[in-house]
Amino acid sequence: MFKSQIAVRGASSMISRRMLSSSRVVSNAAAAAAAPVERLKTFKIYRWNPDTPEEKPYLKEYKVDLSKTGPMVLDALLKIKNEQDATLTFRRSCREGICGSCAMNIDGRNTLACLCRIEQDESKDSKIYPLPHMFVVRDLVPDLTLFYKQYKAIEPYLQRDSVPEDGKENLQTIEDRKKLDGMYECILCACCSTSCPSYWWNQQEYLGPAVLMQAYRWMADSRDLATDKRREMLQNSMSLYRCHTIMNCARTCPKGLNPGLAIARIKKEMSF
Ligand code: SF4
Ligand code: SF4
Ligand code: FES
Repeated sequence: MFKSQIAVRGASSMISRRMLSSSRVVSNAAAAAAAPVERLKTFKIYRWNPDTPEEKPYLKEYKVDLSKTGPMVLDALLKIKNEQDATLTFRRSCREGICGSCAMNIDGRNTLACLCRIEQDESKDSKIYPLPHMFVVRDLVPDLTLFYKQYKAIEPYLQRDSVPEDGKENLQTIEDRKKLDGMYECILCACCSTSCPSYWWNQQEYLGPAVLMQAYRWMADSRDLATDKRREMLQNSMSLYRCHTIMNCARTCPKGLNPGLAIARIKKEMSF
């Protein structure tokens, strides 16, 4: 081989090595540009464990990278539980605002963690507590025993002695069906009742907005024939009349419902 041919081959292999290393630099730079920038946000979460009752409840801090987390507070809670602390306890099921189980107090407001967007400002900490003024089972899980007892007490099901004419269905006009709009959508998450000051102070006797709206949902149903009995149940000074129209219930409802209005309608109907 001639000397000039050797020189040409050496030069071309050097060029290809340089091209390779420069393409690596470019791909590294592209990868760095594509990698999301870390955005750490602090979540301060209420913790209490019934197995160590001598230890007082406290707020525990977790840092979550928002660039690697879904948009909702429930996404952050699941990420913390999966990657940082498996002992963190909360309820959730549907993750789309249907089951009502992820109700909690997020940054001062009762809402559903799966419908609540994470405040994207990383400089602001997010504080999460269980629903207020309830006994706590553990961490973010409130004890809803009384709430469900009260719901059961209003007998939330269709009551009538007669059977339908065709023996099949209790029919209802379109207009009568419309009267249930804004009430049948309630998912019994208890956000409204636990935001109501009257319910905080008189929980043992006052039924609270969620249960009262369900009571009215049956009073307003043209197919139900137990209205007199339902009125009678509420005819005392505590079950209904502790509502002072403060309207925290309507402000907080994550489904956009208005239990305060339903309560006002019961009061109006009972006044005649
Ligand atoms: S009215 Fe709204 S806040 Fe109250 S229980 Fe129903 S869905 Fe929840
Ligand atoms: S309107 Fe009645 S039920 Fe609703 S928050 Fe106020 S007092 Fe409670
Ligand atoms: S997980 Fe069902 S309402 Fe949030």
